[in-house]
Amino acid sequence: MVEVTPASETVFFDYVTAAEVHDAADHERKAFPPDEADSPEQFRYRYTHAGHLFLGAFVPSPSQPKGRRLVGHICSTQSPLTYYTKESMSVHVPFSASICVHSICLLGSYRRKGIGMKMIREYLSRIRDYCSSEELVSKGKPERVLLLTHSDVRPFYEKAGFACTRKSDVVLGTGVWYEMCLDLKADSIYM
Ligand SMILES: CC(C)(COP(=O)(O)OP(=O)(O)OC[C@H]1O[C@@H](n2cnc3c(N)ncnc32)[C@H](O)[C@@H]1OP(=O)(O)O)[C@@H](O)C(=O)NCCC(=O)NCCS
Repeated sequence: MVEVTPASETVFFDYVTAAEVHDAADHERKAFPPDEADSPEQFRYRYTHAGHLFLGAFVPSPSQPKGRRLVGHICSTQSPLTYYTKESMSVHVPFSASICVHSICLLGSYRRKGIGMKMIREYLSRIRDYCSSEELVSKGKPERVLLLTHSDVRPFYEKAGFACTRKSDVVLGTGVWYEMCLDLKADSIYM
């Protein structure tokens, strides 16, 4: 049976539930080469420790228990360091200064339709809301969002407001990684 891709307007965003983490890991495995794809264990760790940073893109799907199907995701953890490290991929330090994005991915048939840009903007908007919460005034607000990318995807992140800070030292799979940073301190939430 040929699967029909629903129109991009039907895509909506919400936090991923425990039952959907497996699908996110499966999408990751399909989207990235084996030496770059994060493991299902890493996905479960991120969901358990940093569920507030694990956003999904969904389409309505009445046959599924929650009436929706995961078609993309963004997930992160937090680190006290000002730059992206491999360790940040498996350790979450709550209330620390850097939000390190580890995976952004859409199923193939949902790409290049503007959904990825909507998803990252929604993610950043939710991070700004989170930074504005009373709880963080005493515990510490994140100051930046960091991620690594190969050079071909840099334009996507630049359009979302990130700037390239340097060539990263992180070795993961093959090819050069560039570190991208979005400075939250420049936002009105800090003023
Ligand atoms: C990267 C990804 C999330 C982007 O989402 P998307 O829905 O395809 O992107 P959009 O359609 O929202 O594109 C927004 C803009 O970014 C640009 N862009 C998107 N993907 C790009 C890419 N791979 N390389 C360069 N530019 C890209 C688009 O050209 C578009 O520019 P425009 O507004 O001038 O037309 C998606 O393509 C994906 O899941 N790819 C596979 C996994 C991956 O590579 N993840 C990133 C790892 S660093």
